[in-house]
Amino acid sequence: MAEQFPSPIAIPGDIADALARVRTRIDNGTLPRLLYIASLSSTNDVADRLAGSGALDGTTVVAEQQTAGRGRLGRTWFSPPGAGLYASVIVRVDAAFPVPLVSLTAGLAFAEGARAATHLPVDIKWPNDLVIGRRKLAGILTEASGSSAFAYVVVGVGINLHPAAYPPEIADRATCIETELGRPVDRGLVLAECLASFSEWITRLRGGQSAEMLDRWRRLSPSSHGARVEYTSQGSPTAGTTVGIDVDGALLVESRNGVERIVAGEVRWF
Ligand code: BTN
Repeated sequence: MAEQFPSPIAIPGDIADALARVRTRIDNGTLPRLLYIASLSSTNDVADRLAGSGALDGTTVVAEQQTAGRGRLGRTWFSPPGAGLYASVIVRVDAAFPVPLVSLTAGLAFAEGARAATHLPVDIKWPNDLVIGRRKLAGILTEASGSSAFAYVVVGVGINLHPAAYPPEIADRATCIETELGRPVDRGLVLAECLASFSEWITRLRGGQSAEMLDRWRRLSPSSHGARVEYTSQGSPTAGTTVGIDVDGALLVESRNGVERIVAGEVRWF
């Protein structure tokens, strides 16, 4: 049976205040379009349903907890109450919009947002993990749907805020803002800076500034050039060295096969 549509609750004061401060940077006035929900399956799923029923560009779903948070490559996203920020934004797209670049744009925007809010050295690991050193701070799940005039992309981000009892398979590879800062984190500021930065970069993408976005992305992703990585190529584990990203966002890796373009999947650092 389909999940009943979860009822929004009042936006908590700390988040409402922070959003009000960045309002002028948000193209479509995300604040009135932000739905804050105590518990739901996945913010991406709820945003998708809203988009399918005509929700406007910039509509954002934020939850305190997800009971079925989803990650890339069919994984689960660990989403206990209050431990992280769980948010999804609807981006309406037309035929001219460079949809393949939305994922990288989200990574860049949220990295810049997290940096602005915390001053932590947040980098991007291709395609769009946010990392500090080699530990993952946040993940992004981008899902495109619809067709022609009704096309949209749902961009979901999960940012680890507080230490949590992470499942063992991710415990030694995850970090959170509070641990990195060594003091409490202002979650409203993190969310507000991320949403403002995302809105600004999507506006720039709509304005044809893909090259500027890629240029800035490269600077925040030192591991996309010169890092030793392992990935799967034609079904076999392959070792190589990253040599940059292409104009469509593909990762370029030099290996025994020559320079390969990786468009999906995962690369692991040595
Ligand atoms: C990844 O595997 O790194 C991507 C994780 C994306 C998690 C976020 S949390 C908010 C949104 N809702 C989901 O179910 N997933 C994304």
